[in-house]
Order: sequence, then C-alpha cells, then structure tokens
Amino acid sequence: MKTLWTERYAQRTQRMRSSRVRELLKLTEQPEIISFAGGLPAPEVFPVQEFQEACQSVLAEHGSKALQYSTTEGYRPLREMIARHTVRYGIEVGPDNILLTTGSQQALDLIGKAFINPGDHILVENPTYLGALQAWNGYQAEYVTIPLDDDGMRTDELEGALRISPKFVYVLPNFHNPAGVTLSLERRHKLIEMADHYGIPIIEDDPYGQLRYVGEHLLPLVVLDNQFQGNNGSPYSGNVIYISTFSKTLAPGIRLGWVIAPVEVIEKLVLAKQGADLHTSTFDQMVAYEVARGGFLDNHVRLIRNVYRERRDAMLSALEKYFPGDVSWTKPQGGLFLWVTLPEHLDADMILNDALKEKVAFVPGESFYADGSGQNTLRLNFSYVKPERIEEGIKRLGSVLHAALEEDSSVGALRPLPA
Ligand SMILES: Cc1ncc(COP(=O)(O)O)c(C=O)c1O
Repeated sequence: MKTLWTERYAQRTQRMRSSRVRELLKLTEQPEIISFAGGLPAPEVFPVQEFQEACQSVLAEHGSKALQYSTTEGYRPLREMIARHTVRYGIEVGPDNILLTTGSQQALDLIGKAFINPGDHILVENPTYLGALQAWNGYQAEYVTIPLDDDGMRTDELEGALRISPKFVYVLPNFHNPAGVTLSLERRHKLIEMADHYGIPIIEDDPYGQLRYVGEHLLPLVVLDNQFQGNNGSPYSGNVIYISTFSKTLAPGIRLGWVIAPVEVIEKLVLAKQGADLHTSTFDQMVAYEVARGGFLDNHVRLIRNVYRERRDAMLSALEKYFPGDVSWTKPQGGLFLWVTLPEHLDADMILNDALKEKVAFVPGESFYADGSGQNTLRLNFSYVKPERIEEGIKRLGSVLHAALEEDSSVGALRPLPA
C-alpha cells in the first residue's frame, strides 16, 4: 500500500512553515531585482583569497586531521581564540564554556531541543528574529511578546511577562534583526536584574555586535550578568546563554557559530548536538581558524564596518529623499537592517507585490511577529546592495509607496479599518 505521508508526520511539523525570507531569496537571485530582502553580507567583502590560502595550508599541514571526524565541542584552537576575544570584554570564559555550532542557527535549534517542552512559553521581542521562531515552533513553543522601541526591548513591560514564568527570555541586544534598534545600557542592567530576580535565563543572540558604525560599544548581557553575579575570576556560570557567529564577519557559507554558556549547559548542548550532526565540519573550523588568526579578523571587521557604514548612510539619505512623510524608519547604529513603519492601513505584503513589479524586494514585517501583527511594517537590508543601487532601489520603493498612498480611496494596498 502506498504511504499516505500526511498522516505520518509528527504533530510538531504542523507549525513548521517556510520562512518568507528564504522564499524571497529565491526570487531575488534574479540579477535585475534590487534586493533589500535577505540578510546577506556583501559578497565583495568575502576574504576569498585568504580562504583559498587557508584551505591549501590546512590540507598541506594537517590534511588527515582536517578530513577526519572530530570532537562535538569543536576545534580547540578556535574555541581558545573565541575565549581570548571574549576575555577582552572583561569576562572569564575558557574553552569549556564554548561550543562551536553549524551556524548560530543550529545553536538556536539545540537550545530548543535542550530546553523547550511542548507548550512552554518563551519570552520574545515583538518583532524578533524569524529563524528563532522557526527553530522553536518545531519544539511546540508558545510565545509571550514584549514590544520594542528605539532603545530595544521595553523593559518596563517585562515584569508581567516574567510572572508567567517563561522558560527563557530571547533577546537581540545589538542592531536588532529585524528592527535595527539597540538595547540601551540602562535596560540591559534592568533585564539582568529582573531575570535574576525571577530566576529566568536569558538567551542573548548577538551576530552583529562587532558591526557598529556609530556610537560606543555596549557591554553584552553575558558580561553584565557576570558582574552582577559577582563571579569575577572564575569560569562563567551565570544566567545567560550567549550566541554568535562568523557569518557576518567572515562568511555565512562556512556555517560556523558558537555558544558561550555555563559548563553544565554546554555539556547538555553537546549531547543535543551529537544527535544532530556529531560535530561541525572539522575542515571548516580549521580553515576559519587559519583565516581569522594573527589579527586578520580584527582588521577585516574594520573593513566591513567601513563598507556597511557607507551603505547604511546611503540608505538613510535615500529614505529621507524619496519616502513619503508619513512613513518612519529606525536609524541603526550598526548591523544590517533597518525597520520601516508605514501608515496604519497600508499592508506591506501588498506593497511588496507592487514593488516586485518595479524590480525591488524587501521582507514584509508580519513574519517577524510571534503574535501575527505588524502588517504595516517591513525590513530593509542595507549590506548587500552597492550604494548607487541602494539609491535607485529606494527611489523605486518610494514611488510605489507614494502611489499606494495616493490611491487611498480605492482598494489597492489598503486594508479595511479595524472595527
Ligand atoms: C539574529 C540572528 N540570529 C541567528 C542568525 C543565524 O545566523 P547563522 O546561522 O548564519 O550563524 C541570524 C542570521 O541572519 C540572525 O540574524
């Protein structure tokens, strides 16, 4: 008898949906489209030659090791390098506090696997990173949401949400994806204190922390928590699980991220990872180490900052020039994205249809909201497109928005007023 597959899938697959961003990525592979949709780094900044040389030297000097199975925790010299880097910010972490993962996306999935029971509540920002929702929907999580403003998560709304006793708080403190905002130092302290008071752990997702273009670096939550716990000098054992990645500083194609957490949490995540993929590619880890070491990564991050700062500025000035007055947007101090809010009754999904006809793409905001709101919002990426094309793309998008607003008495992109 032929299998009826639909009757065989596990219940947890019911909430697995394709990501809007990944669908749009297929579309935007067409060269004539100006895409502000994906979170893609600029291909011009990939250190291709350094990777080529590193591949050769890894194979020549450690070929059989690089092609062999290796430990789940990850390549030790790379973990030591990450630890040294973290110590710079004033936190004592050793290699035993670090697990290398196949992209930080895998870290999110492993956290889901290790912590989430069906029906558990997770406290997320509204909007939040779509990939986290995708990872945790698969573990049948429910969400409690906290709104954002220009200073990041609204910590004045935290208390009520923490009383529900969520499994953990998920927060993107630096150059939020999708919102582009940064959590203020005052709110970082408040979050640490309140999470500690209620005994709720924090997942700090920080892929963009090094990509700051203006203003002062703010200490990560994991560092502030370490200070708050009075833990100075001993290996990290606090309330925060910190995750980051080489995707935005080296290249996303190597799929290399990491988790920093108390040793006992790392041990649990290691077990979760063994069931997932045994370990992250030995070869990729050794090559990334070879590329990054000796100060290359620090210099390279400086170059990336300059390139992206220029693109951010190009987008901000084009928005001023071409967008209608009643549309607003965030002014990110770093990262890859800014966030646009349209007048209440415009639907970003419908605007996207018109924009695609003009060969320009973005991601409608709705999919970043765990509560399904945000129809009048959208995310723009500024790292991928070159500055001249950014101006052209924003000009086209501006015309689409002007046209939609002018049509306000007809159907067009307008949604009915809420009752
Ligand atoms: C907030 C956030 N977390 C995690 C990821 C996953 O990144 P990767 O798996 O490439 O490390 C991304 C990617 O864009 C992201 O924006």
